[in-house]
Amino acid sequence: MPQKLRAGLVGVTGYTGLELARLLASHPNLELVRATSRSEAGKRLSDLFPNLLQTAPGDVTLTQPDVADLKGACDVVFLAVPHGTAMDMAGELLDAGARVVDLSADFRLRDKDVYARWYGLEHRRTDLLPQAVFGLVELYREAVRGARLVANPGCYPTSAILGLTPALEAGVAETDGIVIDAKSGATGAGRGAKVPMLYCEVSDTFRAYNIGKHRHTPEIEQELSRAAGSDLVISFNPHLLPMNRGILSTMYLRLKTPMSTAEARALYAERYAGERWIRVLPEGVLPETRNVRGTMFCDIGLVADPRSGRLIVLSAIDNLCRGASGQALANANLMLGLPEDAGLSCAPLLP
Ligand SMILES: NC(=O)c1ccc[n+]([C@@H]2O[C@H](COP(=O)([O-])OP(=O)(O)OC[C@H]3O[C@@H](n4cnc5c(N)ncnc54)[C@H](OP(=O)(O)O)[C@@H]3O)[C@@H](O)[C@H]2O)c1
Repeated sequence: MPQKLRAGLVGVTGYTGLELARLLASHPNLELVRATSRSEAGKRLSDLFPNLLQTAPGDVTLTQPDVADLKGACDVVFLAVPHGTAMDMAGELLDAGARVVDLSADFRLRDKDVYARWYGLEHRRTDLLPQAVFGLVELYREAVRGARLVANPGCYPTSAILGLTPALEAGVAETDGIVIDAKSGATGAGRGAKVPMLYCEVSDTFRAYNIGKHRHTPEIEQELSRAAGSDLVISFNPHLLPMNRGILSTMYLRLKTPMSTAEARALYAERYAGERWIRVLPEGVLPETRNVRGTMFCDIGLVADPRSGRLIVLSAIDNLCRGASGQALANANLMLGLPEDAGLSCAPLLP
Protein backbone atom coordinates (compact mmCIF):
# COMPACT_ATOMS: atom_id res chain seq x y z
CA MET A 1 0.00 0.00 0.00
CA PRO A 2 1.46 3.45 -0.87
CA GLN A 3 2.55 5.49 2.13
CA LYS A 4 -0.03 7.92 3.44
CA LEU A 5 0.55 11.66 3.62
CA ARG A 6 0.83 13.05 7.15
CA ALA A 7 -1.68 15.37 8.80
CA GLY A 8 -1.29 17.43 11.96
CA LEU A 9 -4.25 18.82 13.87
CA VAL A 10 -3.95 21.66 16.37
CA GLY A 11 -6.96 21.71 18.68
CA VAL A 12 -8.19 18.12 18.44
CA THR A 13 -10.28 18.35 21.62
CA GLY A 14 -12.63 20.96 20.16
CA TYR A 15 -15.75 20.08 18.21
CA THR A 16 -14.21 20.78 14.81
CA GLY A 17 -10.98 19.01 15.79
CA LEU A 18 -12.89 15.96 16.90
CA GLU A 19 -14.90 15.95 13.66
CA LEU A 20 -11.68 16.14 11.66
CA ALA A 21 -10.19 13.23 13.63
CA ARG A 22 -13.36 11.24 12.85
CA LEU A 23 -13.01 11.93 9.12
CA LEU A 24 -9.26 11.29 9.04
CA ALA A 25 -9.75 7.92 10.72
CA SER A 26 -11.14 6.52 7.46
CA HIS A 27 -9.15 8.62 4.97
CA PRO A 28 -7.44 6.44 2.35
CA ASN A 29 -4.42 8.71 1.76
CA LEU A 30 -3.99 10.86 4.87
CA GLU A 31 -2.99 9.80 8.36
CA LEU A 32 -3.31 11.79 11.55
CA VAL A 33 0.24 11.80 12.94
CA ARG A 34 0.04 14.74 15.35
CA ALA A 35 -2.93 15.97 17.37
CA THR A 36 -2.52 18.68 19.96
CA SER A 37 -4.26 19.87 23.07
CA ARG A 38 -2.80 21.99 25.85
CA SER A 39 -5.23 20.59 28.41
CA GLU A 40 -5.13 16.89 27.44
CA ALA A 41 -1.54 16.38 26.22
CA GLY A 42 -0.18 12.94 27.08
CA LYS A 43 -3.52 11.13 26.71
CA ARG A 44 -4.46 8.78 23.88
CA LEU A 45 -7.05 10.20 21.49
CA SER A 46 -9.21 7.07 21.77
CA ASP A 47 -9.12 7.24 25.59
CA LEU A 48 -10.64 10.69 25.42
CA PHE A 49 -13.00 9.90 22.55
CA PRO A 50 -13.98 6.21 22.57
CA ASN A 51 -15.93 6.73 19.33
CA LEU A 52 -12.49 6.71 17.71
CA LEU A 53 -11.51 3.31 19.14
CA GLN A 54 -10.27 0.75 16.59
CA THR A 55 -9.13 3.44 14.21
CA ALA A 56 -5.42 2.58 14.60
CA PRO A 57 -3.08 3.69 13.14
CA GLY A 58 -5.15 6.89 13.35
CA ASP A 59 -5.00 6.76 17.14
CA VAL A 60 -2.36 9.11 18.52
CA THR A 61 -1.09 10.41 21.83
CA LEU A 62 -1.95 14.08 22.16
CA THR A 63 0.92 16.55 22.34
CA GLN A 64 1.33 20.18 23.30
CA PRO A 65 1.00 22.49 20.29
CA ASP A 66 4.62 22.84 19.20
CA VAL A 67 5.13 24.41 15.81
CA ALA A 68 8.72 23.16 15.56
CA ASP A 69 7.52 19.57 15.96
CA LEU A 70 4.51 19.97 13.65
CA LYS A 71 6.38 21.48 10.75
CA GLY A 72 8.81 18.60 10.43
CA ALA A 73 6.27 15.86 11.00
CA CYS A 74 3.35 16.91 8.77
CA ASP A 75 2.57 17.47 5.10
CA VAL A 76 -0.47 19.53 6.07
CA VAL A 77 -1.50 21.11 9.36
CA PHE A 78 -5.09 21.91 10.30
CA LEU A 79 -5.55 24.75 12.78
CA ALA A 80 -8.84 24.11 14.62
CA VAL A 81 -8.24 26.84 17.19
CA PRO A 82 -9.87 30.15 18.10
CA HIS A 83 -9.30 33.20 15.88
CA GLY A 84 -6.35 35.28 17.01
CA THR A 85 -4.44 32.10 17.85
CA ALA A 86 -4.14 30.72 14.36
CA MET A 87 -2.41 33.62 12.63
CA ASP A 88 0.95 33.26 14.40
CA MET A 89 1.02 29.46 14.10
CA ALA A 90 0.09 29.63 10.42
CA GLY A 91 2.88 32.09 9.80
CA GLU A 92 5.53 29.92 11.44
CA LEU A 93 4.33 26.77 9.68
CA LEU A 94 4.24 28.45 6.28
CA ASP A 95 7.66 29.97 6.81
CA ALA A 96 8.90 26.39 7.36
CA GLY A 97 7.29 25.18 4.11
CA ALA A 98 4.22 23.38 5.51
CA ARG A 99 0.73 23.63 4.03
CA VAL A 100 -1.91 25.05 6.35
CA VAL A 101 -5.69 24.89 6.48
CA ASP A 102 -6.92 27.39 9.06
CA LEU A 103 -10.43 26.72 10.35
CA SER A 104 -10.52 30.01 12.24
CA ALA A 105 -11.48 33.41 10.85
CA ASP A 106 -7.93 34.75 10.82
CA PHE A 107 -7.34 34.66 7.06
CA ARG A 108 -10.90 34.80 5.69
CA LEU A 109 -11.21 38.57 5.42
CA ARG A 110 -8.99 40.11 2.77
CA ASP A 111 -9.07 43.56 4.37
CA LYS A 112 -7.11 43.82 7.63
CA ASP A 113 -9.16 46.84 8.72
CA VAL A 114 -12.41 44.91 8.36
CA TYR A 115 -10.85 42.11 10.46
CA ALA A 116 -9.76 44.60 13.14
CA ARG A 117 -13.21 46.22 13.23
CA TRP A 118 -15.24 43.00 13.57
CA TYR A 119 -12.83 40.93 15.66
CA GLY A 120 -11.44 43.73 17.83
CA LEU A 121 -7.90 42.61 17.04
CA GLU A 122 -5.06 43.91 14.88
CA HIS A 123 -3.92 41.30 12.36
CA ARG A 124 -0.31 40.31 13.07
CA ARG A 125 0.38 38.50 9.77
CA THR A 126 -1.05 40.83 7.16
CA ASP A 127 1.82 39.74 4.91
CA LEU A 128 0.05 36.38 4.49
CA LEU A 129 -3.40 37.74 3.62
CA PRO A 130 -2.72 38.03 -0.14
CA GLN A 131 -1.80 34.35 -0.41
CA ALA A 132 -4.69 32.99 1.68
CA VAL A 133 -7.33 31.31 -0.50
CA PHE A 134 -10.94 31.29 0.70
CA GLY A 135 -11.60 27.56 0.81
CA LEU A 136 -15.04 27.21 -0.70
CA VAL A 137 -14.40 24.69 -3.46
CA GLU A 138 -17.43 25.60 -5.56
CA LEU A 139 -16.01 29.13 -5.90
CA TYR A 140 -12.23 28.76 -5.63
CA ARG A 141 -11.36 25.15 -6.52
CA GLU A 142 -8.44 25.94 -8.83
CA ALA A 143 -6.92 28.48 -6.46
CA VAL A 144 -7.15 25.99 -3.58
CA ARG A 145 -5.18 23.45 -5.62
CA GLY A 146 -2.19 25.77 -5.74
CA ALA A 147 -2.55 27.22 -2.25
CA ARG A 148 -0.22 26.82 0.71
CA LEU A 149 -2.61 28.62 3.06
CA VAL A 150 -6.35 28.05 2.94
CA ALA A 151 -8.77 30.12 4.98
CA ASN A 152 -11.54 27.65 5.66
CA PRO A 153 -14.92 29.43 5.48
CA GLY A 154 -17.12 29.91 8.52
CA CYS A 155 -20.16 27.71 9.03
CA TYR A 156 -22.92 30.30 8.56
CA PRO A 157 -21.04 31.89 5.62
CA THR A 158 -20.79 28.51 3.88
CA SER A 159 -24.54 28.09 4.03
CA ALA A 160 -25.32 31.68 3.04
CA ILE A 161 -22.74 32.06 0.26
CA LEU A 162 -23.66 28.76 -1.40
CA GLY A 163 -27.33 29.65 -1.12
CA LEU A 164 -27.14 33.17 -2.56
CA THR A 165 -24.28 33.10 -5.06
CA PRO A 166 -26.18 31.76 -8.12
CA ALA A 167 -28.94 34.38 -7.91
CA LEU A 168 -26.46 37.22 -7.42
CA GLU A 169 -24.05 36.05 -10.12
CA ALA A 170 -26.95 35.82 -12.56
CA GLY A 171 -28.16 39.30 -11.58
CA VAL A 172 -31.78 38.22 -11.10
CA ALA A 173 -32.09 39.75 -7.62
CA GLU A 174 -31.71 43.23 -6.14
CA THR A 175 -28.48 43.58 -4.17
CA ASP A 176 -29.98 45.68 -1.40
CA GLY A 177 -32.38 44.46 1.26
CA ILE A 178 -31.06 40.88 1.40
CA VAL A 179 -32.02 39.18 4.66
CA ILE A 180 -30.40 36.01 5.97
CA ASP A 181 -32.28 34.35 8.81
CA ALA A 182 -30.02 31.52 9.99
CA LYS A 183 -30.27 28.90 12.72
CA SER A 184 -27.48 26.74 14.09
CA GLY A 185 -27.10 23.81 16.47
CA ALA A 186 -25.14 24.32 19.69
CA THR A 187 -21.82 22.81 18.54
CA GLY A 188 -21.41 26.00 16.51
CA ALA A 189 -20.36 27.73 19.73
CA GLY A 190 -17.45 25.35 20.36
CA ARG A 191 -16.83 22.91 23.20
CA GLY A 192 -15.62 25.31 25.86
CA ALA A 193 -17.86 25.58 28.93
CA LYS A 194 -20.13 28.64 28.87
CA VAL A 195 -23.29 29.15 30.95
CA PRO A 196 -25.54 30.16 27.99
CA MET A 197 -24.60 26.88 26.31
CA LEU A 198 -25.49 24.57 29.22
CA TYR A 199 -28.10 21.90 28.48
CA CYS A 200 -30.86 23.61 30.47
CA GLU A 201 -30.14 26.94 28.81
CA VAL A 202 -30.24 25.57 25.25
CA SER A 203 -32.84 22.81 25.34
CA ASP A 204 -36.57 23.45 25.16
CA THR A 205 -36.13 27.03 23.99
CA PHE A 206 -35.23 28.96 20.82
CA ARG A 207 -33.41 32.28 20.76
CA ALA A 208 -31.77 34.77 18.46
CA TYR A 209 -28.36 36.26 19.21
CA ASN A 210 -25.99 38.91 17.81
CA ILE A 211 -28.71 40.24 15.52
CA GLY A 212 -27.15 42.53 12.92
CA LYS A 213 -23.67 42.26 14.47
CA HIS A 214 -22.47 38.67 14.15
CA ARG A 215 -18.81 38.34 13.10
CA HIS A 216 -19.70 36.24 10.08
CA THR A 217 -21.41 39.27 8.48
CA PRO A 218 -18.32 40.75 6.76
CA GLU A 219 -17.26 37.35 5.43
CA ILE A 220 -20.67 36.83 3.84
CA GLU A 221 -20.64 40.39 2.45
CA GLN A 222 -17.12 39.93 1.03
CA GLU A 223 -18.06 36.86 -0.97
CA LEU A 224 -21.55 37.99 -2.00
CA SER A 225 -20.11 41.31 -3.20
CA ARG A 226 -17.81 39.30 -5.46
CA ALA A 227 -20.80 37.34 -6.75
CA ALA A 228 -22.86 40.48 -7.36
CA GLY A 229 -19.98 42.48 -8.82
CA SER A 230 -20.61 45.39 -6.45
CA ASP A 231 -20.31 46.04 -2.71
CA LEU A 232 -23.42 44.99 -0.86
CA VAL A 233 -24.69 45.08 2.70
CA ILE A 234 -26.72 42.21 4.10
CA SER A 235 -28.85 41.77 7.18
CA PHE A 236 -27.56 38.58 8.84
CA ASN A 237 -29.50 37.30 11.82
CA PRO A 238 -28.44 34.11 13.62
CA HIS A 239 -30.42 31.91 16.01
CA LEU A 240 -29.50 29.05 18.32
CA LEU A 241 -31.44 25.82 17.90
CA PRO A 242 -31.82 23.23 20.67
CA MET A 243 -29.96 20.54 18.71
CA ASN A 244 -26.31 19.49 18.42
CA ARG A 245 -25.38 20.07 14.81
CA GLY A 246 -26.72 21.58 11.62
CA ILE A 247 -27.52 24.97 10.09
CA LEU A 248 -30.64 26.00 8.23
CA SER A 249 -30.57 29.42 6.57
CA THR A 250 -33.69 31.02 5.13
CA MET A 251 -32.73 33.87 2.82
CA TYR A 252 -34.90 36.54 1.26
CA LEU A 253 -34.12 38.24 -2.06
CA ARG A 254 -36.21 40.70 -4.06
CA LEU A 255 -36.47 39.61 -7.69
CA LYS A 256 -35.75 42.25 -10.34
CA THR A 257 -38.32 40.70 -12.65
CA PRO A 258 -40.81 37.93 -11.93
CA MET A 259 -39.41 34.40 -12.04
CA SER A 260 -41.04 31.04 -11.37
CA THR A 261 -39.72 28.52 -8.89
CA ALA A 262 -38.94 26.19 -11.80
CA GLU A 263 -36.84 28.92 -13.48
CA ALA A 264 -34.99 29.65 -10.26
CA ARG A 265 -34.35 25.95 -9.80
CA ALA A 266 -33.00 25.65 -13.34
CA LEU A 267 -30.65 28.58 -12.74
CA TYR A 268 -29.27 26.97 -9.57
CA ALA A 269 -29.00 23.52 -11.14
CA GLU A 270 -26.98 24.97 -14.00
CA ARG A 271 -24.65 26.96 -11.70
CA TYR A 272 -23.94 23.89 -9.61
CA ALA A 273 -23.89 21.31 -12.42
CA GLY A 274 -21.19 18.76 -11.66
CA GLU A 275 -20.83 19.84 -8.02
CA ARG A 276 -21.02 16.61 -6.06
CA TRP A 277 -21.97 18.22 -2.75
CA ILE A 278 -24.66 20.68 -3.82
CA ARG A 279 -28.13 19.19 -4.04
CA VAL A 280 -30.65 21.56 -5.58
CA LEU A 281 -33.84 19.99 -4.33
CA PRO A 282 -36.86 19.30 -6.53
CA GLU A 283 -39.60 21.94 -6.58
CA GLY A 284 -41.78 21.58 -3.48
CA VAL A 285 -39.04 19.92 -1.39
CA LEU A 286 -37.39 22.01 1.34
CA PRO A 287 -34.06 21.25 3.02
CA GLU A 288 -33.72 19.78 6.48
CA THR A 289 -30.64 19.58 8.69
CA ARG A 290 -30.92 15.86 9.35
CA ASN A 291 -30.62 15.07 5.64
CA VAL A 292 -27.08 16.48 5.59
CA ARG A 293 -25.90 15.46 9.07
CA GLY A 294 -22.23 14.45 9.18
CA THR A 295 -21.73 15.12 5.45
CA MET A 296 -20.45 17.66 2.95
CA PHE A 297 -23.84 18.15 1.33
CA CYS A 298 -25.44 21.56 1.03
CA ASP A 299 -29.11 21.08 0.27
CA ILE A 300 -30.77 24.06 -1.39
CA GLY A 301 -34.51 24.64 -1.67
CA LEU A 302 -36.05 27.44 -3.72
CA VAL A 303 -39.42 29.15 -3.64
CA ALA A 304 -40.34 32.07 -5.87
CA ASP A 305 -43.17 33.98 -4.21
CA PRO A 306 -45.00 36.03 -6.87
CA ARG A 307 -47.18 37.78 -4.27
CA SER A 308 -44.21 39.41 -2.47
CA GLY A 309 -41.89 39.47 -5.48
CA ARG A 310 -39.29 37.53 -3.53
CA LEU A 311 -37.08 34.55 -4.16
CA ILE A 312 -36.72 32.59 -0.93
CA VAL A 313 -33.65 30.39 -0.75
CA LEU A 314 -33.19 27.81 1.97
CA SER A 315 -29.91 26.01 2.54
CA ALA A 316 -29.04 23.27 5.01
CA ILE A 317 -25.54 22.15 5.95
CA ASP A 318 -23.85 20.34 8.80
CA ASN A 319 -21.88 23.05 10.62
CA LEU A 320 -19.10 20.69 11.74
CA CYS A 321 -18.60 18.74 8.51
CA ARG A 322 -19.51 20.97 5.56
CA GLY A 323 -19.21 24.15 7.62
CA ALA A 324 -15.80 23.29 9.07
CA SER A 325 -13.85 20.03 9.13
CA GLY A 326 -15.15 18.20 6.05
CA GLN A 327 -14.58 21.36 4.03
CA ALA A 328 -11.09 21.67 5.55
CA LEU A 329 -10.36 18.11 4.47
CA ALA A 330 -11.61 18.75 0.92
CA ASN A 331 -9.28 21.73 0.77
CA ALA A 332 -6.33 19.70 2.07
CA ASN A 333 -7.09 16.98 -0.49
CA LEU A 334 -6.86 19.52 -3.30
CA MET A 335 -3.69 21.12 -1.90
CA LEU A 336 -2.03 17.70 -1.70
CA GLY A 337 -3.12 16.56 -5.17
CA LEU A 338 -5.55 13.96 -3.81
CA PRO A 339 -9.13 13.39 -5.01
CA GLU A 340 -11.27 16.22 -3.64
CA ASP A 341 -13.70 13.82 -1.97
CA ALA A 342 -11.16 11.39 -0.46
CA GLY A 343 -12.42 10.41 2.98
CA LEU A 344 -15.62 12.40 2.50
CA SER A 345 -18.09 10.12 0.82
CA CYS A 346 -20.15 9.16 3.88
CA ALA A 347 -23.96 9.10 3.67
CA PRO A 348 -26.04 11.33 5.97
CA LEU A 349 -26.77 10.04 9.46
CA LEU A 350 -30.51 9.42 9.84
CA PRO A 351 -32.50 9.93 12.03
N1 LIG B 1 -17.88 24.88 15.90
C1 LIG B 1 -18.19 25.14 14.64
O1 LIG B 1 -19.28 24.79 14.16
C2 LIG B 1 -17.20 25.86 13.75
C3 LIG B 1 -17.48 25.93 12.39
C4 LIG B 1 -16.57 26.58 11.54
C5 LIG B 1 -15.42 27.15 12.05
N2 LIG B 1 -15.19 27.09 13.40
C6 LIG B 1 -13.94 27.69 13.88
O2 LIG B 1 -13.00 26.63 14.09
C7 LIG B 1 -12.17 26.94 15.22
C8 LIG B 1 -12.33 25.82 16.25
O3 LIG B 1 -13.69 25.79 16.64
P1 LIG B 1 -14.27 24.73 17.69
O4 LIG B 1 -15.73 24.94 17.72
O5 LIG B 1 -13.71 23.39 17.40
O6 LIG B 1 -13.62 25.31 19.04
P2 LIG B 1 -13.50 24.61 20.46
O7 LIG B 1 -14.47 23.49 20.55
O8 LIG B 1 -13.56 25.70 21.46
O9 LIG B 1 -12.01 23.99 20.45
C9 LIG B 1 -10.87 24.80 20.39
C10 LIG B 1 -9.63 23.89 20.36
O10 LIG B 1 -8.46 24.71 20.27
C11 LIG B 1 -7.55 24.41 21.33
N3 LIG B 1 -6.96 25.68 21.72
C12 LIG B 1 -7.60 26.74 22.30
N4 LIG B 1 -6.74 27.78 22.46
C13 LIG B 1 -5.56 27.36 21.98
C14 LIG B 1 -4.27 27.96 21.88
N5 LIG B 1 -4.04 29.22 22.31
N6 LIG B 1 -3.26 27.26 21.34
C15 LIG B 1 -3.45 26.01 20.89
N7 LIG B 1 -4.65 25.35 20.96
C16 LIG B 1 -5.68 26.04 21.51
C17 LIG B 1 -8.40 23.75 22.41
O11 LIG B 1 -7.68 22.76 23.13
P3 LIG B 1 -6.75 23.10 24.39
O12 LIG B 1 -7.37 24.29 25.07
O13 LIG B 1 -6.73 21.86 25.20
O14 LIG B 1 -5.42 23.42 23.78
C18 LIG B 1 -9.47 23.02 21.59
O15 LIG B 1 -9.01 21.74 21.19
C19 LIG B 1 -12.63 28.31 15.74
O16 LIG B 1 -11.82 29.31 15.20
C20 LIG B 1 -14.05 28.43 15.21
O17 LIG B 1 -14.48 29.75 15.03
C21 LIG B 1 -16.04 26.44 14.25
